[in-house]
Amino acid sequence: MRVLFIADIVGEEALDWIVSRLPELRTSTQADVVIANAENSARSAPNPYVGFGISVDGARRLLAAGVDVVTSGNHGWDSPDAAEVYALDGVIRPLNVGSEKPGKGFYTLDVHGEALTVLNMADTVAIPGVEHPHHAFNRLDLLGTVVVDFHSGDVMQILGFGFANQGKVAAVLGTHTHEPTEILHITEGGTAIVVDVGMTGRSGGWQGIDPRIMTAVYLGEDTTSFEPYELATGPMVLGAVLVEIENGRTTSITRVR
Ligand SMILES: [Fe+2]
Ligand SMILES: [Fe+2]
Repeated sequence: MRVLFIADIVGEEALDWIVSRLPELRTSTQADVVIANAENSARSAPNPYVGFGISVDGARRLLAAGVDVVTSGNHGWDSPDAAEVYALDGVIRPLNVGSEKPGKGFYTLDVHGEALTVLNMADTVAIPGVEHPHHAFNRLDLLGTVVVDFHSGDVMQILGFGFANQGKVAAVLGTHTHEPTEILHITEGGTAIVVDVGMTGRSGGWQGIDPRIMTAVYLGEDTTSFEPYELATGPMVLGAVLVEIENGRTTSITRVR
């Protein structure tokens, strides 16, 4: 099966862009399945200057446009209607945040008669306090081919999870930093590992956001003098990979731009 994985969609304009591009992307990649991380796709409270979250409308639009599974991350609860977002069929959030947060951590779908489970996990840097991803994973009994959106702020944690579980999962695809990595691993066990797939949104900024805002956040300065939701202004970029999987093992992984 061919899986198109789209990393962190930043802002509503990028959501519009990916919705309009999906028919062409599905055709050009011949993807059987599309997974998209939407943790930064909305305009959401509580802090409009960073983060963004997922809106119900945005998640619905992605699903209607042909995204099969919407994944999430640390910003996945920024929206006040998060409970409604995660009640949608096909929308998941990191499993190892625990059951006190709304939503489910994995979703299984049928791909031409073959089961595919999309699992969303976070490491302890992306979401401090989560259960160790490997311990949480070990309790699971997942159906069919497994592809993981690993929301990661730590190279060691994502490589560790990928190599420790090679052969058990077809792909461990990093999200969260928004900075795409060049190396696309395929381990001897047939597991693809990408430390970060990148982001989908305006280039030229800091993680898709106006760098002045992010610099102020970094320096601990007040951000309320900036326009809310101010994004970067460079050309739109697609952060995505296409993973080809046979019998639960990845045979090829390429970047899609
Ligand atoms: Fe993100
Ligand atoms: Fe994140």
